[in-house]
Amino acid sequence: MTLQFSLDAAAPETVDTACVVVGVYEQGMLTSAAARVDSATGGAIKRQIESGDITGKTGSSTLLYAPAGVTTKRVLVVGLGAQKSFDAARFHKVNIETTRALGRLPVADAISWLTEIEVPGRDSAWRVRTAALAADHAAYRYTATFKPRDKSTQPELATIGFAGGIDAQGGLDQARAIAEGVRFTRELANLPPNICNPAYIAEQALAFAEGKDKVSCTVLDHVEMEKLGFGSLLAVARGSVNKPRLVALNYQGGAEGDKPYALVGKGVTFDSGGISLKPGAGMEEMKFDMGGAAGVLGAFVAAVKLGLKLNLVCVVPTVENMPDGDSYRPSDVLTSLSGLTIEVLNTDAEGRLILCDALTWTAQTFKPQAMIDAATLTGACVVALGKHASAVMSKHDDLAAELLAAGEETLDRAWRLPLWDDYQSQLDSGFADVANIGGKTAGAITAGCFLSRFTEGQRWAHLDIAGTAWEEGRKGLATGRPVPLLVQWLLDRCESEK
Ligand code: BES
Ligand code: MN
Ligand code: ZN
Repeated sequence: MTLQFSLDAAAPETVDTACVVVGVYEQGMLTSAAARVDSATGGAIKRQIESGDITGKTGSSTLLYAPAGVTTKRVLVVGLGAQKSFDAARFHKVNIETTRALGRLPVADAISWLTEIEVPGRDSAWRVRTAALAADHAAYRYTATFKPRDKSTQPELATIGFAGGIDAQGGLDQARAIAEGVRFTRELANLPPNICNPAYIAEQALAFAEGKDKVSCTVLDHVEMEKLGFGSLLAVARGSVNKPRLVALNYQGGAEGDKPYALVGKGVTFDSGGISLKPGAGMEEMKFDMGGAAGVLGAFVAAVKLGLKLNLVCVVPTVENMPDGDSYRPSDVLTSLSGLTIEVLNTDAEGRLILCDALTWTAQTFKPQAMIDAATLTGACVVALGKHASAVMSKHDDLAAELLAAGEETLDRAWRLPLWDDYQSQLDSGFADVANIGGKTAGAITAGCFLSRFTEGQRWAHLDIAGTAWEEGRKGLATGRPVPLLVQWLLDRCESEK
């Protein structure tokens, strides 16, 4: 169930809600809302600070039940950490922890005053948007493949209000749209590959476009792709009985003749490695190898919901990479849609092989003004940047800077890696125009270099989201990244066009 959000201008001591949320810093510093509750209750918060029950540590929380002097039944006092170093990242974190704490209480609604806290360099619309997105993220539950459970009789958190005036309304509207996109991404990526196969992804895109005025969807199947010459993509797909698709969503939010922005996402619904089979341990995580596809689809969903005044296409090449008697093999030479030939040295470097044809087709078909791909492309990217930052690669400094800025704004952060020509010779082949792997070093970069061969003349950037698209571990869920980054980038494009 999605959370409902609202803006609230009431006072914390007299408001009608199941739970009021206020913040305190370390060393007993009260925020103004906490101070109001404290004086209305004759010092209920300060007494617990003195006793050491409330520490103000980041992410800690203490419940005051039915304190005399306020109308609400519950006051949740949330720790904000040291005031001096309070920043945007901490703000995001405490809002996530707050929603987790609220989720453990028998409350259906709550109102948070955390959105009144000053965050250096950010305004109230940002605070409300960030708090709402953090709350929705923490409230998300994956239930699709569990046996349906009986509805619990306990109330469940359904509505959160945020303290804020009309200047924050835009932030709340953006949060609703982005949250919908993030949920779309997470749900699709979390589904197992026996449900979420290429045909399923195509169906979801068609279903989304259905009945929407400015949105259309086309799907190419393997027969059509064969006619057009998608030799690289089709080679990867050959080992699976789940036939590939190329999905293209089109949104006409801008003027008729305006060149669109293009988002392209890697949609490998399961990556076994193919004939270059992956080791067994952790292979189940490769159901998330369509995280780029899910991410660009989610960004598209959010862009449509926001009604952005621009034209946008979202292209998803989707296949399953499996070993089979008919699989492609190491040493095969493929002819890509661009005409460039590719020597396959490892069938596990399949993402770039489906993306190169999709990028060529997107550039030819839509002539975009900028093209961004998102892909869970390399393990090397996770080695380089860990689980915190996505990698940005582009030959266009301005485009790279735009994406990095969008990541900072949304805390969906990215870090740039170089695409210098120095790396290109690692892709030399004795049998084709290019090899599909670049050797031991700089694996994330050589994957980017491979894609760069197919995007010449395009204003293009590549996002490697291998470390950021899902959380590791048995119960690790899709994160919904890079939806916030991509949507912010599109929002910024609308503003700069004005
Ligand atoms: N989907 C993987 C990349 C990946 C691995 C993402 C682990 C997240 C976690 C990709 O298709 C792949 O297998 N890449 C190979 C490339 C290599 C064969 C050059 C890799 O990273 O090992
Ligand atoms: Mn692979
Ligand atoms: Zn892969």
